[in-house]
Amino acid sequence: MIEIKKQIAEALSAAAGGAIDAVAVQDALEYPPNADMGDLAFPCFRLSKVMRKAPPAIAAELSAAFSCPAVERVEVAGGYLNLFLNKAYLAEYVIGKAVFADKPYGSSEEGKGKTVVLDYSSPNVAKPFHIGHLGTTVIGHSLKKLHEFAGYHCIGINHLGDWGTQFGKLITAYRLWGDKEKIERDEIDELVALYVKFHAEAEKDDSLNDKARAEFKKLEDGDEENLALWKWFIEISLREYQKTYALLDISFDSYNGESFYTDKMAAQVEKIRAAGLLKIDDGASIVDLEEYGMPPCLILKRDGSTLYPTRDIAAAVYRKNTYDFDKCIYVTSAGQSLHFAQWFKVVELMGYDWADKLVHVPYGTVSIDGAKLATRTGNVVLLKDLFATAIDKSLGIIEEKNPDLENKEDVAKAVGVGAVVFHYLSGGRIKDMNFIMEDALSFDGNTGPYAQYTYARTCSILRRAGEPAAVAAKITTDEESELVKVLLRFPEKVKSAIDDYEPSTVTRYALDLCAAFNRFYHECPILNCEDADIRATRLCLVSATKNILGNALHLICVGTPEKI
Ligand code: ARG
Repeated sequence: MIEIKKQIAEALSAAAGGAIDAVAVQDALEYPPNADMGDLAFPCFRLSKVMRKAPPAIAAELSAAFSCPAVERVEVAGGYLNLFLNKAYLAEYVIGKAVFADKPYGSSEEGKGKTVVLDYSSPNVAKPFHIGHLGTTVIGHSLKKLHEFAGYHCIGINHLGDWGTQFGKLITAYRLWGDKEKIERDEIDELVALYVKFHAEAEKDDSLNDKARAEFKKLEDGDEENLALWKWFIEISLREYQKTYALLDISFDSYNGESFYTDKMAAQVEKIRAAGLLKIDDGASIVDLEEYGMPPCLILKRDGSTLYPTRDIAAAVYRKNTYDFDKCIYVTSAGQSLHFAQWFKVVELMGYDWADKLVHVPYGTVSIDGAKLATRTGNVVLLKDLFATAIDKSLGIIEEKNPDLENKEDVAKAVGVGAVVFHYLSGGRIKDMNFIMEDALSFDGNTGPYAQYTYARTCSILRRAGEPAAVAAKITTDEESELVKVLLRFPEKVKSAIDDYEPSTVTRYALDLCAAFNRFYHECPILNCEDADIRATRLCLVSATKNILGNALHLICVGTPEKI
């Protein structure tokens, strides 16, 4: 609709003799609350000052002077000009863009020449990769795809938590209870078991924590044995993460984690000091942020070792120098909002003029069937188990619904993973969510499987009918017009998803599109429609739906099997 609105706005601006410019008209255009008030409405109130007339008189004047191929007729309603769009024109427009153009409908060049860095997923190595990471992983990747769709050059970074005291804990646990062969066999499961055991034992015996700190210190000082263990743990963890990323079809451009910045922090600490920002507080070095209503940002511990914010500051500078980003986006749970606000402020105070290009995108917590998750107690739902359950259940449903389907395993994978991701991305990101597997997997509800099933239906129609040819559109039913309207909305949904960093806008759009398509499918015969022009138009609408729905699902990291 963005372009159609633009056309209309230009025509209205011309009809007003230029008393208002087209951009202002476009911003003012409204969607009326019900269909008998038209498809769009222009409130004339703001023109009454410039044109020195009452709004109804202006509406009448515009209605006489206005002409635009996208609009069939206009009606004056008080101070509003109600616009009724030309259905066939709109259908031809969207079909042209979504079926016969060489670029996907909704994609743009808005971000041409601009680089966006996205920091997401970023699990803490050797800790479980659990359902809490679902948010950062899929929101982050979806934002990457959305930005790419809008023409930005994107760099996805997995800022691995590969440094810190947890390695001291793991090394200690390994030395005390570890079994090399067991780890080689069970890989991450065994590492997590050791990590969990460490916490259980340290509850009873605090000296274990001292041991862990000492092991980490040794690691920081370059102890070879500890370094080798550290590398080994990272390799094991990465191999594990890759399996989940492969399921989601996610890859990263960089895995530079926290350890990568070890030698890049001193220069930034010096810069903070030189700017007169560093204060000593109880032995630790901090930047006081009281003036900005925040607790101090910790830069160095008492023993001089660096902290999470120190690494983030060094990483931001490195990324700016390496990628010259126009935006650097961080996707983490809302629990880290203060952390980001603090160090963003420090970067600004350091005098970096790109501080305002750092964006934190927070999301709410996830619980499963009401249960809160805790990493340290071992009471966690691992992401891989969640996906495995979903895939398994999908396979069961497919066996039942469509026992003869080829590649059942692959389809079950796409449906199971898609169901989890779709369900997760269907609510606003900041809201806490309770994940219920049955809800995610239902084929009847507003779910991923339902959207994928609708997509497969469009594929099946086109398989039988063949790819459609261009037509002079013939629109005869409300269901067709409604579908056209929803199809047209895709570009603005993409734009608003990007502007608000909100993939759920696309998820909800996909559901609206499925609903409009399924109403059309049930009410309008397609393959056995007798009027050749109507049939051809309907096939084009099926094809447009297939392409737009497919792209919408792709943008939210949901697979699109052609047969289910
Ligand atoms: N590793 C952190 C965690 O799991 C997330 C890192 C986010 N990115 C960053 N640059 N701080 O909580």
